Amino acid sequence: MAPMLAALALLALISVSEQGPHEKRLLNSLLNSYNTLERPVANESEPLEVKFGLTLQQIIDVDEKNQILTTNVWLNLEWNDYNLRWNDSDYGGVKDLRITPNKLWKPDVLMYNSADEGFDGTYQTNVVVRNNGSCLYVPPGIFKSTCKIDITWFPFDDQHCDMKFGSWTYDGNQLDLVLKDEAGGDLSDFITNGEWYLIGMPGKKNTITYACCPEPYVDVTFTIMIRRRTLYYFFNLIVPCVLISSMALLGFTLPPDSGEKLTLGTYFNCIMFMVASSVVLTVVVLNYHHRTADIHEMPQWIKTVFLQWLPWILRMSRPGKKITRKTIMMSNRMRELELKERSSKSLLANVLDIDDDFRHVPPPPNSTASTGNLGPGCSIFRTDFRRSFVRPSTMEDVGGGLGSHHRELHLILRELQFITARMKKADEEAELISDWKFAAMVVDRFCLFVFTLFTIIATVAVLLSAPHIIVQ
Ligand SMILES: *[C@@H]1O[C@H](CO)[C@@H](O)[C@H](O)[C@H]1NC(C)=O
Ligand SMILES: *[C@@H]1O[C@H](CO)[C@@H](O)[C@H](O)[C@H]1NC(C)=O
Ligand SMILES: *[C@@H]1O[C@H](CO)[C@@H](O)[C@H](O)[C@H]1NC(C)=O
Ligand SMILES: *[C@@H]1O[C@H](CO)[C@@H](O)[C@H](O)[C@H]1NC(C)=O
Repeated sequence: MAPMLAALALLALISVSEQGPHEKRLLNSLLNSYNTLERPVANESEPLEVKFGLTLQQIIDVDEKNQILTTNVWLNLEWNDYNLRWNDSDYGGVKDLRITPNKLWKPDVLMYNSADEGFDGTYQTNVVVRNNGSCLYVPPGIFKSTCKIDITWFPFDDQHCDMKFGSWTYDGNQLDLVLKDEAGGDLSDFITNGEWYLIGMPGKKNTITYACCPEPYVDVTFTIMIRRRTLYYFFNLIVPCVLISSMALLGFTLPPDSGEKLTLGTYFNCIMFMVASSVVLTVVVLNYHHRTADIHEMPQWIKTVFLQWLPWILRMSRPGKKITRKTIMMSNRMRELELKERSSKSLLANVLDIDDDFRHVPPPPNSTASTGNLGPGCSIFRTDFRRSFVRPSTMEDVGGGLGSHHRELHLILRELQFITARMKKADEEAELISDWKFAAMVVDRFCLFVFTLFTIIATVAVLLSAPHIIVQ
């Protein structure tokens, strides 16, 4: 009984302690005659099938400027090496081994559109070899892939970044890449990105036969489809822009006297184009507003555009002056009449038959000459007028002759004309200043309309033309 127990215990001990030597023996028998350069196929004329998969762990960076996508990815390569098969019962039940990749043949699959300094960014992990010859190689890596980034619709943009994998040296007749999962990459471990929403990662096998050579070339291309999360940009870019542009519009509603227009206009440099043009127009408005008659005359086109047609279009009115099509026509007619009138003599000069022009003082006229010019119908009025008009100033020398009367009348007329001219000029100046102010107001109102329209149209157009506004 005792020897039997001892033998059993020894057997158990041996079976446990022999696990290490079995693996060593197995490795020796497998790798002693193994050549890492040999393509491990039983029939040389048949391709070696490599199942290829990809697990996306994380999108690390999307570099729009350099057009580089940086990702954390695990590759997944599976193939069958006919040189690495053994009967596990011959080796103490050892069913699988982990062997460093440089001791084995492994497919030279690389990412074609790599932008990495070392080109291949994978970490060389062990290959898991099973006793039926199947090899599983899962190298993790930080991949930098080139990606054509199109930011036309920023921040409402989608980006499609390809990762093209293929054997660098073997053609399709020697090494056949097969998609491990037809649906594409494995996204079960994906860590969501704060800036990008992952739409999907489809994979596709491409077999291309070039004109030069008969053999096909195989690659597997995964497309990382990402969409920018707009919420961040919505609150940090779009909302402030809209707010600032609406504030810039408010600048046109300020009265020019408050003096804040320019400050307000220059403050918002965010929407450069709009603010720049609004500043220019505000300068024009202020310039118009502060113009005086001494320095500036109002050209006729400004009168026509800013005092007549624009206010009519914008439905603006001035106190005591309604602007309609009719009044515009009428004022134009009036202007023509006024020009005609100005070229003729003044009423008083006409009545007294005196030259309006004072540049040369006429010789004291003879009594006969002055009476002779007017018709007989006017003579009564004239004498009456003269008597009443002349008497107060020339009371004592009524009988002094009509010549001296006439001279004094002439002087009075001159004084009167001087005074009325001054008053007229003051009136005209005041009117011109108010015209300029009104023109400034019209420009302001016009800007308010145009810029409001521009802002609304631009905002709506930009928002509507984007392929999508909200993710999903
Ligand atoms: C190898 O494969 C080719 C094509 O599949 C076949 O014609 C040939 O008979 C195979 N050779 C052996 C030794 O099995
Ligand atoms: C493995 O070896 C054992 C005994 O050495 C044998 O019985 C078995 O059939 C072999 N299995 C295979 C798949 O060759
Ligand atoms: C090898 O064995 C593993 C499990 O032991 C199995 O999943 C795999 O399909 C087998 N491969 C082949 C080529 O038989
Ligand atoms: C008018 O007066 C001028 C000189 O003052 C004189 O030479 C002329 O003859 C006078 N004419 C008449 C019609 O009396």
